[in-house]
Amino acid sequence: MSAPNAPALRILAPAAWAATVADELVERVRAEPRLRLCLPTGDTPSPLYARLAELERARGGSFAQATVVGLDEWADLPPGDPARCDVRLRRELLDRLVPPPRFIPIDVDGSDDEAAAREHDEVARNLDLAVLGLGMNGHVGFNEPGSRPDEPTRLVRLALSSREAATARYGAARTPSGGITVGMARILEAREVWLLVTGEHKAAVLRRAVVEPEGPDCPASYLRRHPRLTVFADEAAASLLG
Ligand code: F6R
Repeated sequence: MSAPNAPALRILAPAAWAATVADELVERVRAEPRLRLCLPTGDTPSPLYARLAELERARGGSFAQATVVGLDEWADLPPGDPARCDVRLRRELLDRLVPPPRFIPIDVDGSDDEAAAREHDEVARNLDLAVLGLGMNGHVGFNEPGSRPDEPTRLVRLALSSREAATARYGAARTPSGGITVGMARILEAREVWLLVTGEHKAAVLRRAVVEPEGPDCPASYLRRHPRLTVFADEAAASLLG
């Protein structure tokens, strides 16, 4: 699984992006009700989650037997902080699904983050589907530039831009210093990987991730080692793919 593959590119009109990805996800979980998946938080998936909640309000039950595994979490935000990944995921999606899927968050509220990361590494094995967003610096989850493709779930220091996003964009009460992330090794072991990318501001980093040679400056570029990578991009994000 080390030679780069060409990802499947799904380039969608911005207005159709959330509905198309939501339909595909519901189809996937209906075909495989016990799906184990991880899901990102952030601005990119918010419209997708709103659409999923809407679809499920009408149809219901698709996620009843699924398991959602936490992808990443800030290590030093208090429980309930609005920027926490567990809080956001529950608020935007999980609490709106009836019945909700089983959710296994990353336990950052104990006294030993290293131990919590090791424990979550076991939870993150054997994912059926890893759904990811793409950071402006090429990160996926909290695998910041410099991450290696064989790294496990672990406690990480965050890039300044990621730390600042917590307060400036996600409403955190204070700037977190670190986080725990499912590692690239577990992501690349998942049966299937979806990368979600929207907006013109992501066009250059998406090109870096899927067209230019892979390298540690852009951890997302390692995703091309995966034989079943699908990129769901809107037309604006895909505008530099040529
Ligand atoms: C957050 C996460 C991050 C985000 C990335 C993009 O759970 O996994 O890797 O997906 O920072 O964030 P947005 O979508 O806000 O641009």
